[in-house]
Amino acid sequence: MKKPHHPPFSDRLIARELEASLGNVVLGRQILVLESTRSTNDFLRQMLTSDLAEGVVVFAEEQTAGRGQRANKWHSAPHQGLWFSILLRPRITLAESARLTSWAAEAVADTIRQQLELAPQIKPPNDVYIGPRKVCGVLVETKAGPGRSFAAIAGLGVNLNQSPDAFPEDLRERAGSLAMAIGRPVDRQEFAVALLRELDRSYAENF
Ligand code: BTN
Repeated sequence: MKKPHHPPFSDRLIARELEASLGNVVLGRQILVLESTRSTNDFLRQMLTSDLAEGVVVFAEEQTAGRGQRANKWHSAPHQGLWFSILLRPRITLAESARLTSWAAEAVADTIRQQLELAPQIKPPNDVYIGPRKVCGVLVETKAGPGRSFAAIAGLGVNLNQSPDAFPEDLRERAGSLAMAIGRPVDRQEFAVALLRELDRSYAENF
């Protein structure tokens, strides 16, 4: 068996440090890092109350029942990727909510391009690929509020440091990580900050 990529930096996400690096943002103003949960989308949905602030982010180091589109499982190896959900209260109608999926996929692709100088491609509506391998998926779920308002939970899964054999056999041909694409490990904390900054910037511009 091939060894996983062992990063020369901490493989743990630290909520307070993420918040401090982000500074004055809306998305990421409050961050939780769970060691393990079934699905960050489910966890955030359970936390959801009418006064929970837009921009709360929940990361999990491991998901035991990560979900993808069309009832697919999302494989979330402990400490090897970014598995997280963001609470959004967009000023658009529910009928337009598909825009949130493309916004998130574009922010991931832009961050990969800027941070790692790779050439990601978006496979609409919700996947980011590098060459033939999927490195990220987005799952946006909504909950109606009063009037025409609604809350959205944007769940993002980004494969960072897996080696090929970290993926289940049936995915091995089609799934990849950013470390596989650049041949060295990616600093998860640093990538998370860059991605949240880009999400925050582009969300303010579009919603
Ligand atoms: C897909 O490719 O079909 C979408 C995958 C979305 C995975 C992320 S990981 C964080 C969040 N929690 C989940 O259970 N799913 C999303």
